[in-house]
Amino acid sequence: MLTLTNNFAAHVLDGLNRPPSLPKQLQPKYFYDALGSTLFEKICCLPEYYPTRTELEILTDNACEIARAIGRYADILEFGAGSLIKIRHILDGFQPLSRPLSYTPIDISGKHLLRAARALMATYPELEIFPRVEDYMAIKELPKPSIRPIGFFLGSTIGNLEPREAIAFLRRAAILLKGGGLLIGVDLVKRPDLLHAAYNDQEGVTAQFNINMLRRINRELEGTFDLNGFSHYAYYNPGRQRVEMHLVSNEDQVAEVCGTSIELREGETIHTENSHKFTIAGFQQLAADSGLNPTKVWTDRAQLFSVHWLESLV
Ligand code: AVI
Repeated sequence: MLTLTNNFAAHVLDGLNRPPSLPKQLQPKYFYDALGSTLFEKICCLPEYYPTRTELEILTDNACEIARAIGRYADILEFGAGSLIKIRHILDGFQPLSRPLSYTPIDISGKHLLRAARALMATYPELEIFPRVEDYMAIKELPKPSIRPIGFFLGSTIGNLEPREAIAFLRRAAILLKGGGLLIGVDLVKRPDLLHAAYNDQEGVTAQFNINMLRRINRELEGTFDLNGFSHYAYYNPGRQRVEMHLVSNEDQVAEVCGTSIELREGETIHTENSHKFTIAGFQQLAADSGLNPTKVWTDRAQLFSVHWLESLV
């Protein structure tokens, strides 16, 4: 935990203490403290935020076919597992004899993960469940040897990675999941007004989620950010096929973080997240270039979201 905190301090100072010509930035993985995870769960239920319910609908409608693709003797690892809701829908698609052998959910939000894992154990007592509180980007080997290692990377979390990180993740997954495959949720390019609404909800939950990053810095890194001194700002950048989320400084201000002064001008932004959107063909190409064979894709009727089955080619 201490290492994570130290990394947190180093990453925050690195992102905020940049020369004036470079935009300030914070890494989106740091949104997910206890309050951030709760706010994200709230986002997932908002009427404007279509990804979660659409992905769940795809998983439910195609549960049997997905179970067939995964196959027997599977050991499942879920990267960035969150509240462990989706695995339930997938498990329900299996015939009793072909159910997975084990399930390892990995997430950096510890308390949240352990609570969800306990609830899952109560519903599926025959499944071996090994929750791991870790940064899934740091996973280099399987928790135990497996003849059918299967990765889940759902919710379009891949979209929050920078393109080079996404390729590195997929390449690592291809090696790690040799003999198995990766089930991955990918948000699709769509009308900008739908994207705008999804990241600027009426209730302001996404704004709170964004501002909570500064609250966390204040609490954990002796920060002095004035939470009312910033505005949530999210927009779709069509050239880069991504929704960008920023915190805009409402005035000239100075804040302290770990004893370092951070100056912000009025209108200056802290870039907190990118959420990349993909075409199906574009994503399949990315997967193939990374050593994963895209053999199957499922979408909803309106083609808002996609779930891909990728087999390891390594
Ligand atoms: C976790 N991730 C896929 C979400 C997304 O849509 O990029 C995070 C999020 N940020 C704002 N709303 C939701």
